[in-house]
Amino acid sequence: MLTLALFALLATATAYIWPSPQFEALDEMRFEQPLASFVDPCDLFVFDVDDSRKSGRADSADWIRTAYHDMATHNVKDGTGGLDGSIRFLEEMARPEDAGDGFQNTIDVLAGESNRYVSIADVIALGAVIAVENCGGPEIAFRGGRVDATEPNAPGVPQPQESLDSHIASFARQGFTQTEMIGLVACGHTFGGVQHAPFPDIVPELNDPNSTESVAHFDSSFVNFDNNIATEYISGTTQNPLVVGLNDTTNSDKRIFGSDGNVTMRSFANSPELFASTCAELFAKMIDTVPRGVQLTDVVTPLPVKPIIVRFDLDGDTLRLDGRVRLWNMTQDTAGTVRLFWDDHVGGTNNITLSFDGRFTNSGGRNTGVYYTFSATPPDNSLSIDAAAGITQMRFTVNDKLEDQGGLGFLLQDGVVISTSSCVDFHSNGSIAGGHLDLAVRNTITPTRVFIETEKFDDSGRPTVVEIEVPRPSEAATANATYSIWSVQLNSDQQFNFYTVGAELDGGGKLLGPHQFFDFASC
Ligand code: HEM
Ligand SMILES: *[C@@H]1O[C@H](CO)[C@@H](O)[C@H](O)[C@H]1NC(C)=O
Ligand SMILES: *[C@@H]1O[C@H](CO)[C@@H](O)[C@H](O)[C@H]1NC(C)=O
Ligand SMILES: *[C@@H]1O[C@H](CO)[C@@H](O)[C@H](O)[C@H]1NC(C)=O
Ligand SMILES: *[C@@H]1O[C@H](CO)[C@@H](O)[C@H](O)[C@H]1NC(C)=O
Ligand SMILES: *[C@@H]1O[C@H](CO)[C@@H](O)[C@H](O)[C@H]1NC(C)=O
Ligand SMILES: *[C@@H]1O[C@H](CO)[C@@H](O)[C@H](O)[C@H]1NC(C)=O
Ligand SMILES: *[C@@H]1O[C@H](CO)[C@@H](O)[C@H](O)[C@H]1NC(C)=O
Repeated sequence: MLTLALFALLATATAYIWPSPQFEALDEMRFEQPLASFVDPCDLFVFDVDDSRKSGRADSADWIRTAYHDMATHNVKDGTGGLDGSIRFLEEMARPEDAGDGFQNTIDVLAGESNRYVSIADVIALGAVIAVENCGGPEIAFRGGRVDATEPNAPGVPQPQESLDSHIASFARQGFTQTEMIGLVACGHTFGGVQHAPFPDIVPELNDPNSTESVAHFDSSFVNFDNNIATEYISGTTQNPLVVGLNDTTNSDKRIFGSDGNVTMRSFANSPELFASTCAELFAKMIDTVPRGVQLTDVVTPLPVKPIIVRFDLDGDTLRLDGRVRLWNMTQDTAGTVRLFWDDHVGGTNNITLSFDGRFTNSGGRNTGVYYTFSATPPDNSLSIDAAAGITQMRFTVNDKLEDQGGLGFLLQDGVVISTSSCVDFHSNGSIAGGHLDLAVRNTITPTRVFIETEKFDDSGRPTVVEIEVPRPSEAATANATYSIWSVQLNSDQQFNFYTVGAELDGGGKLLGPHQFFDFASC
């Protein structure tokens, strides 16, 4: 009880202050889990050709194995390797130690979810977390901030035909003791199995209509996290191909599981709770094994009341705010009436009552919450704010309880916003053919520069930050009384997914708008 209470206290203490683009993005991917649909149901394999023919494979298993193999190049002595997305390089992926197509499958799904706040390596780590949590496993502490490698790491993933001494040495090089090795292998191998195609000497053609890819599974519940990997091993009923394989040379799980006289495996077989809590720690250690010098964030905890800005722009004489607020661990009943209050530049406070906009649940019901849209009149989901009065900060009341981050408010800058006069045209291949982005700069601010921050996927596939300078207009203020327009032409070298507008101010200070989706009228 004491540890639980302490954990709750720590969790509250480390929640971030909004706005924080990196934490907002990590919080969304971690807790709202757009990736969860790939492991729902847990036997889903998106590369299956035909739903009625079971391949015997699952996305969840591929994702967990990928996170381990990406990490397993780590060398605790020199600090090289670790979970850094280097598995995406064909040179690394094609090594015999990385046999099988599970890595390419995983990268194909996960790499595109990365952005400038959540690296490919972060998404790989999250893939493992989400697979485990959504398929019966324990909650795993997740930190962000991994840095994507720009080249392959040195080899070093253990293979089945190696000796026990070699495996102990390999895990020690990765930073894991012998006991941790037994645990981590058991935690991983509660999912998936060995396929015939990459390992024909371990698994024959099975001719099993439920496993068209001839996968010999590690335990009888290969799409769920549970301690069957241990109970079946200890009871002598296991079909694990790395324990009961005909060629003892490749029975690595047998050597590893038995290496302490079965003490660890017996403890897992006797206690599903111990297995789950041990795996939660070992998986967290695995995903936090990163190259030396990489600074991970605090454990990501959900913001209890989280504004999610979808768009914030100037439309004529109106500032238009599209967004919603996420209320963590609440239902429509507990939320009651939800109000948004906003302060303006002229001393006024305004409010509207927000409309229920759906709920979410994932990770076995651990993560639940509701959304309320910034509108009293759906389906119009935008809040119109008089541009001259503007907006400085938001607060909410949820069932009459004030939610303002302990008095800080939810600050929203309106010094520089995108204007709806922006437009863009695309070639049929999706690249930009032309157009311009117009930024409305509030006449009360004196910027030294105005820019658009976006991301570009570099030659190695990494999301990198790109700033596009927006030139100061040659003519004096052209727009409305409140804002003037700075404009930049678009060109075919640019890529946009999400973007943020910003300004650096005379006398110091920087304004950054919310992260918004790139979506404009054609010219
Ligand atoms: C000595 C250490 C290890 C060896 C020799 C080993 C070996 C293997 C082999 C040969 C496969 C079959 C791959 C395929 O057919 O695609 C496999 C699958 C798998 N391994 Fe390991 N493994 C080890 C440790 C780990 C660890 C530490 C984890 C995770 C924590 C892990 C997670 C997985 C998963 C989830 C699969 C199933 C993949 C799928 O079904 O798509 N393994 N392992
Ligand atoms: C295939 O799976 C179905 C449903 O789980 C089961 O009824 C059937 O016996 C399985 N077939 C074989 C050959 O294992
Ligand atoms: C057993 O596996 C090892 C390693 O793959 C191989 O070198 C050896 O030839 C195999 N033995 C038999 C009898 O197939
Ligand atoms: C571990 O347990 C298995 C299954 O009961 C047994 O076959 C094996 O001999 C045991 N190994 C050791 C080292 O006790
Ligand atoms: C300025 O206001 C006028 C009239 O309200 C409107 O038509 C025009 O689009 C606005 N200009 C900009 C740049 O928003
Ligand atoms: C969720 O809210 C309920 C009350 O509505 C509370 O009892 C429970 O402890 C909360 N759970 C978490 C994980 O905060
Ligand atoms: C909310 O705004 C309305 C006017 O739109 C005002 O009458 C009301 O007092 C405000 N509510 C609160 C709690 O300030
Ligand atoms: C897309 O098409 C345009 C016009 O045909 C061409 O100039 C451009 O190079 C193409 N871009 C890519 C990435 O293929």
